Amino acid sequence: MNITEIVKGIHYVGVNDRNKHKFENLWPLPYGVSYNAYLITDEKNVLVDTADAAYTDRLLDNITDVIGDGKIDYLVINHMEPDHSASIQFIRQKYPQMTIVGNAKTLEMVKGYYGIDDNTLCVKNGDCLSIGNRTLTFYLTPMVHWPETMMTYCPDEKVLFSGDAFGCFGTLDGGITDSQLNTGKYWNEMVRYYSNIVGKYGPAVQMALKKLSDLEIKTICSTHGPIWQDEIPNVVNIYDRLSRYEAEPGVVIAYGSMYGHTEQMAEEIARELAANGIKEIVLHNVSHDDPSYILQNIFRYRGLIIGSPTYSNKLFPAVESLINMIATREIKGRTFAYFGSYTWAGAAVKHLASFAESMKWDTLPCPVEMKQGMTPDIKEHCRLLAREMAARLKE
Ligand code: FEO
Repeated sequence: MNITEIVKGIHYVGVNDRNKHKFENLWPLPYGVSYNAYLITDEKNVLVDTADAAYTDRLLDNITDVIGDGKIDYLVINHMEPDHSASIQFIRQKYPQMTIVGNAKTLEMVKGYYGIDDNTLCVKNGDCLSIGNRTLTFYLTPMVHWPETMMTYCPDEKVLFSGDAFGCFGTLDGGITDSQLNTGKYWNEMVRYYSNIVGKYGPAVQMALKKLSDLEIKTICSTHGPIWQDEIPNVVNIYDRLSRYEAEPGVVIAYGSMYGHTEQMAEEIARELAANGIKEIVLHNVSHDDPSYILQNIFRYRGLIIGSPTYSNKLFPAVESLINMIATREIKGRTFAYFGSYTWAGAAVKHLASFAESMKWDTLPCPVEMKQGMTPDIKEHCRLLAREMAARLKE
């Protein structure tokens, strides 16, 4: 049995990357990542997406395993980010007669990145392409994750080639479809992938979900992670919830601390949250934890409390970086509180107040600002902040 044939005539030809340390040179990959590509064999052979340039040889080997000396007639490009498109020029060299299929924005990028502008087919939303016994339909889904992003649907087998949507970090170790794999490691990695890569584009994901809502889908072939069949309702639900910025009742406390004083405030707040019935509390020391995990939990939980020492009249650098990442993703609907510390002139709390105002969140009116070390009065202020947060989350 060849498990790379996902459904009859649709083959997995993607590759695993266990070498890259950081996706986009930003996000750690403890479980690696897969670059998924697919080959549809019909009267015309169609390759859907390619792979990172470091894996072109393996992609070509996988294609040869399926079609031998046969040729590829069409390359459908759902997404141009180079983790999927960087092999295009090499695939074109091997299959020079192949027609490259994309929308107007795709083809502009194909020319810009790879200098290719001949033998292309420009498609619009809803266009169909007959490849023999099957027809492919193209749905433009801009900003999931780039402006040229589209999805390709095969109504005959009810397969959706979804680009980055419904994807996650994690290599495909042996199995390819969700029923062939232990899917345990992928669920948190899906939230982390979404939060970090696609997180800014919630409204675009919602528009795409609406556009696809009438399609009957039995298989989702994303560009990263398992092929979804059994778990489609779960996967669509995760993307739907995250793109609506829907969150669970819990609290993230993200703090910077140079010598432990601001950390003491964080601990005090966490204890009082727990004393007031909040069980889901995650503390992140921003100097220790990679921001991708902090963002993952900020997407997950409704309460967010940020603390920072004053550093050269500004926020602690790692806190500054974190709030920039949060602002970039335009995360909505959080209940927010903040605290800070200083030694001779306070600035952190002032900067966090500006951040809170810019995010238009529900912000608690009780920030805590500590001068130098902990006092009974500051402790009580920390507890008050925690009680207010607990009360809001229970409303
Ligand atoms: Fe996996 Fe947006 O590329």
